Amino acid sequence: MTKQIAPLTERQAWNALAAHHQNVRELHLRKLFADDPKRGERMTAEAVGLYLDYSKNRITDETLKLLLQLADESGLRERIDAMFRGEKINVTENRAVLHVALRAPGGASIVVDGENVVPQVHAVLDKMADFSSRVRSGAWKGHTGKRMRNVINIGIGGSDLGPVMAYEALKHYSERAMTFRFVSNVDSTDFAEAVQDLEPAETLFIISSKTFTTLETMTNAHTARDWSLAGLGGEEKSVARHFVAVSTNAAEVAKFGIDTANMFGFWDWVGGRYSMDSAIGLSTMLAIGPDNFRAMLDGFHQMDEHFRTAPFERNLPVLMGLLSLWYNDFFGAQTVAVLPYEQYLKRFPAYLQQLTMESNGKHVTLDGNKVTYDTGPIYWGEPGTNGQHSFYQLIHQGTRLIPCDFIAFNKTLNPLGRHHDILLANVFAQTEALAFGKTPDQVKAEGTPDWLVPHRVFEGNRPSNTLLAERLTPETLGKLIALYEHSVFTQGVIWNIDSFDQWGVELGKVLAQRIIPELENKTEPALAHDSSTNALIRRYRMRKEAAR
Ligand code: F6P
Repeated sequence: MTKQIAPLTERQAWNALAAHHQNVRELHLRKLFADDPKRGERMTAEAVGLYLDYSKNRITDETLKLLLQLADESGLRERIDAMFRGEKINVTENRAVLHVALRAPGGASIVVDGENVVPQVHAVLDKMADFSSRVRSGAWKGHTGKRMRNVINIGIGGSDLGPVMAYEALKHYSERAMTFRFVSNVDSTDFAEAVQDLEPAETLFIISSKTFTTLETMTNAHTARDWSLAGLGGEEKSVARHFVAVSTNAAEVAKFGIDTANMFGFWDWVGGRYSMDSAIGLSTMLAIGPDNFRAMLDGFHQMDEHFRTAPFERNLPVLMGLLSLWYNDFFGAQTVAVLPYEQYLKRFPAYLQQLTMESNGKHVTLDGNKVTYDTGPIYWGEPGTNGQHSFYQLIHQGTRLIPCDFIAFNKTLNPLGRHHDILLANVFAQTEALAFGKTPDQVKAEGTPDWLVPHRVFEGNRPSNTLLAERLTPETLGKLIALYEHSVFTQGVIWNIDSFDQWGVELGKVLAQRIIPELENKTEPALAHDSSTNALIRRYRMRKEAAR
């Protein structure tokens, strides 16, 4: 029998947390650390090779106990099991949510609508591996008999951000003799710059779109087709050698002219922002090779198993989800900064933005009632140490509370002199400075004139998590992504929202479709928007005419 879950604000633990917050909100990390010399070793958790130090958070043992109680009262355990069982937990789209099946080992069984989906997943992986090996070895020839040296992924949102991030993250493992580019924006500059130095005879396009109807992707795909055909003597049959598709929509793929034999499928139970380890990762596999891709999947799977089985008090995604929720809902923090101290992870924050905000940027509960608490925070970030010379000032001395996730690795992939020690010293220094700051007395003791003291004071008490892993490998990347996926899930369950739909992107799409002909019509259209939108459209039409 399913457990009855009370609305969030009526749960016992929620109310206990609200009361507890009143008692601890002024508590300083200086005191918490002074009172417990072992805090920095105690408030840590380690699993599947990831070490999480959460001691520099504004929590006590009681906070943690109540947060874990909230997870229990929210039915998190049951919801995790429901997801892994393939239940249709994406209620507004009546879909299962099974990105975990994408990395399930061959012998596993996950049943959706009476069918074990794991063999289908592995069949697609095998097809991807075969194709990737042929392209990488040069066995796959283009229309003029040349091997493919350039791969361009055309996609947007989940069909772009994951592939771009993974390519950048795993560049160290990539085939350097090949060029990989990513076109997402409908702004023509994106396509023009991506191909400007490339040879059509050596260029393979992957059109990645779950629906194969997305305006940006289809516009870019048609432009790519024109560019490719123009460079290959206009011969239609060249399309089959230079275009492959990743999609769930075979009919639209065929309509575009791509041979469905060169289509790599996935399923409606894979959300776009959870799809980088499906066939959407074809560009990743082409770059790093099938073995590395499988190692990445294994990393995902290890984290999945940890999330599914570990007790919540040692469960990394659960702990991170709960801590994020603590600041979001009780301290009123509006954002979370993700700060990877690893140059290869430079696109990780951008990737996380879709994962976290498209998932948990929701205003109603599963049953359609308006939430009475804040849901998903804003995620943002840049790699360290660059951010330190830009926005860290605000994190250290601004008026907002910004919980930070620091991500670092014990070993660099490019050892060069003292660089890595300096890099890691900065990670540890930043978390220390944020937590403990510098008191007026300390500032004065340095001989600072009185008038300058307030400017040089660091209040501290700014919370952070530190995630340490051994080295950035395909496997580690898989673990890291799955960690955030499940942390997002944890929060969504507690907020009782649908973390797997994205109705909020629809209105803008519909309105754009209405406005396109109003910009393109030769004759002046009758405009029925508001006065601002009407005026903007008229102004653009006028300037467009003047530019002719
Ligand atoms: O922006 C909305 C969205 O539907 C995302 O969820 C998705 O990742 C993206 O568009 C791309 O969709 P598709 O893969 O169908 O082109």
